[in-house]
Amino acid sequence: MLPGWTGEKVKLVPLEKERHLENALRWLNDPEVTQWTLGGDFPLTRLAEEEWFDRMMRHPDRDVAFAIETLEDEHIGFTGIHQISWRHGTGITGTLIGRKDYWGKGYGTDAVRVRTRYAFEVLGLRMLLSEVLVENHASLKMLLKAGYREVGRIPRRYWKRGAYRDVILLVCERDGG
Ligand SMILES: CC(C)(COP(=O)(O)OP(=O)(O)OC[C@H]1O[C@@H](n2cnc3c(N)ncnc32)[C@H](O)[C@@H]1OP(=O)(O)O)[C@@H](O)C(=O)NCCC(=O)NCCS
Repeated sequence: MLPGWTGEKVKLVPLEKERHLENALRWLNDPEVTQWTLGGDFPLTRLAEEEWFDRMMRHPDRDVAFAIETLEDEHIGFTGIHQISWRHGTGITGTLIGRKDYWGKGYGTDAVRVRTRYAFEVLGLRMLLSEVLVENHASLKMLLKAGYREVGRIPRRYWKRGAYRDVILLVCERDGG
């Protein structure tokens, strides 16, 4: 239905409140989905989520956020490039597959690959950065598979679910780095 940037399993489509907001509220308030995300853990209200949608849709030069849909138009998650710096050619990326029945089937990896292609070829960025808690095996594996590499670790960087956790810093560079 919605056109978008297409991969082998997913397409990245523009955010639409009517189509994606309810799922965002459901997924981001699901403790299982946010188990190892950097955000989460605070109740996310409809008002706050509407404001997030508004902000993402109003300032596409700073944040590019997409909904992830399957090629069959099923909405399964979100992915984005944030804090874009045109001067430095960089952006910070994040991905969430909210539909748990779609986990571990390659949808996340495909979404990251499409997003990287879009960031480098369409936006002209040169470096994408990401942070992943060491406990987030799925996210780490997904990013490594899609071309990111580990460049550092910060011990006990973030408080998450009862402990200060180590974070892994990853980058993906246009020219391979
Ligand atoms: C992290 C996430 C985006 C990964 O997406 P996904 O579609 O499940 O990942 P993929 O199926 O593309 O898997 C990528 C690799 O990770 C592996 N993997 C998937 N889930 C895993 C898990 N729970 N533990 C270990 N490895 C896992 C896959 O097997 C695959 O590797 P392989 O090809 O060698 O088998 C998704 O699980 C998710 O949204 N989780 C909740 C939110 C989150 O943590 N987001 C990231 C925030 S930093």
